[in-house]
Amino acid sequence: MYKVVLIGASGLLGRAIAQGLSQQTKWQVVQTAFAHAQAPQIMLDIRDKDAIARFVDEQAPDAIVIAAAERRPDVCENDPALARALNVDAVRAIAGAAQRHGAWVLSISTDYVFDGTRPPYRHDASPAPINAYGRSKLEGEQALFDATRNGCVLRLPLLYGPIASWQESAVTSLVPAIAASTGAAAHPAVMDAWATRYPTFTPDVAFVIVQMLERHARGEPVCGITQWSGDEPMTKYDIALRLAKALGVDAQLTPQHTPADATPRPRDCHLDSSVLEALGIGRRTPFDVAIRQVLAEFPWHGEATRTAP
Ligand SMILES: NC(=O)c1ccc[n+]([C@@H]2O[C@H](COP(=O)([O-])OP(=O)(O)OC[C@H]3O[C@@H](n4cnc5c(N)ncnc54)[C@H](OP(=O)(O)O)[C@@H]3O)[C@@H](O)[C@H]2O)c1
Repeated sequence: MYKVVLIGASGLLGRAIAQGLSQQTKWQVVQTAFAHAQAPQIMLDIRDKDAIARFVDEQAPDAIVIAAAERRPDVCENDPALARALNVDAVRAIAGAAQRHGAWVLSISTDYVFDGTRPPYRHDASPAPINAYGRSKLEGEQALFDATRNGCVLRLPLLYGPIASWQESAVTSLVPAIAASTGAAAHPAVMDAWATRYPTFTPDVAFVIVQMLERHARGEPVCGITQWSGDEPMTKYDIALRLAKALGVDAQLTPQHTPADATPRPRDCHLDSSVLEALGIGRRTPFDVAIRQVLAEFPWHGEATRTAP
């Protein structure tokens, strides 16, 4: 039976991948997580190289999907050792162990490997990250290819999807400020209108990953660098307008036309998805449809009263 190990099954993307894999009844799926591990997930700290080697040797999977990472740019900036441990060293250790078993490895990366000045970016465009997160993810890509020839990188842009807390996605993290900008005691919310993003729905990414695994399972693995992206350009200000509409609130939003983040972020990293599209891989749910699904599953009741399940 085809066996897939999913590393980082508790995260925003990992949960969507786990859900996508649950439809594949003919595959054996083993999930790992760390701080938020819940049965049937196995607890695995990917900073522990020996534990990774033991785990991969025990499982002997056909394929490994790495969705575990440190993906918060500010944390990566302030704790480069943690960023390196998770985004570089762990990828090398997992890929090295996979190589011994002939397992294919799919490692998730980011559009932040680019500097955002010359979009759209093909998969073979020259990366030039401008922050610690982007640099660590680029080094992680190189670590994957140093450790195995049977590896694939999937670069993704800003993600949103089913959440366990508003802050889990940079899309839904706007909701508390949008809500606070409505009503009598409103605080107008300032939203970035400088950087263009391509919000991408995690269940769509999961669909792409399952299609890639299906190809591998039938002996046609995709190797090298690939990219997947939503196709609706939006600034955070545009996203906030659409969120307000979906929430049915009259928000007071102010566009901010110059970058204001403490950690530098690229302006427009639009990822060209043509390599996967040419293979017949892909699915794009319109943003307005997908965000309504997300909000229906996790309704706004006011920040103070809402806790993550
Ligand atoms: N979110 C985005 O907008 C976005 C955009 C582009 C690319 N990406 C990439 O997509 C991938 C998934 O990101 P995400 O947003 O799903 O991240 P996330 O929600 O922050 O999830 C991170 C995952 O990493 C796991 N993890 C953290 N420390 C670990 C450790 N020491 N040992 C084992 N597992 C550990 C977490 O498990 P526990 O919580 O159980 O510890 C969790 O499952 C990453 O490669 C990220 O760079 C994300």
